[in-house]
Amino acid sequence: MGALLLLHVLLVAVASRAPAAQAWGKEGHYMSFLTEEASTAVKGLLPGWAGGDLAETCSWADQQRFRYRWSSPLHFADTPGDCKFDYANCHNTEGEKGMRVVGAINNYTAALKDSSSPYDPTESLMFLAHFVGDVHQPLHCGHADDLGGNTIIVHWYRRKSNLHHVWDVNVIETAMKDFYDNDLSTMIQAIQQNITEEWANEEKQWETCRSRTKTCADKYAEESAKLACKAYEGVEQDSTLEDDYFFAALPVVQKRIAQRGVRLAAILNKIFSGNSKIQSS
Ligand SMILES: *[C@@H]1O[C@H](CO)[C@@H](O)[C@H](O)[C@H]1NC(C)=O
Ligand SMILES: *[C@@H]1O[C@H](CO)[C@@H](O)[C@H](O)[C@H]1NC(C)=O
Repeated sequence: MGALLLLHVLLVAVASRAPAAQAWGKEGHYMSFLTEEASTAVKGLLPGWAGGDLAETCSWADQQRFRYRWSSPLHFADTPGDCKFDYANCHNTEGEKGMRVVGAINNYTAALKDSSSPYDPTESLMFLAHFVGDVHQPLHCGHADDLGGNTIIVHWYRRKSNLHHVWDVNVIETAMKDFYDNDLSTMIQAIQQNITEEWANEEKQWETCRSRTKTCADKYAEESAKLACKAYEGVEQDSTLEDDYFFAALPVVQKRIAQRGVRLAAILNKIFSGNSKIQSS
């Protein structure tokens, strides 16, 4: 491997572990939304290196994109640009059905519920937790023709970025720097406090999912697709995005992080309620 290539690989590895990128998976305290039963089951399935903390595994799925090439399209569900999520579009480029983030969430939820599933339950858990984060990130349900904003090059204040990265990382990074002393846990606490106070009434609706057989991941993708459309408004190649954009985006990002935590806990609680078989597997 050439020195430059090696450097590149290392930089990507460091970047994917940057705290801002982890906010989507690392709200830490969501364990407090888990029932004791679910919490015990989750801890029992986690790999040793996670130290009993599901949040520690949040970048694992991103690291598997090369080892498990098939998992790469499972991180998103882009739309044809109509702001609507449609399960019919949920297939990979080979036409295999369900091979998008919504299908993946249903897949791993079903696998964890079924003690006879051939899939590794530890991997299913880590994939599930990660993909529930992805489906809440608006630009993971962006437009297919610009790869969810990845090909829209913008300036985030003075730095070069792209629209996808703005929503995954830059907004959180700037908020942490400007308001939270560069400390992710301070921001997470503020979000946590909003869940129990400001959003206490909405929070019940976030959790509600009437489907018996599947998760409500399609609903979350639909919400993201709508938010994505707003995110594209007024943005062109080479646009400079600064305060106006930042202050509009930040509350959206923070609420999505909150919804992600509440919903992941609800899914895990449902999976592991009274399911002793899974706990012992
Ligand atoms: C379901 O999970 C298995 C095991 O990881 C994987 O091989 C398959 O591609 C997944 N399918 C979807 C739709 O996520
Ligand atoms: C808390 O909620 C208020 C009102 O919705 C919102 O303006 C603020 O940005 C939220 N803060 C966080 C950290 O989520």
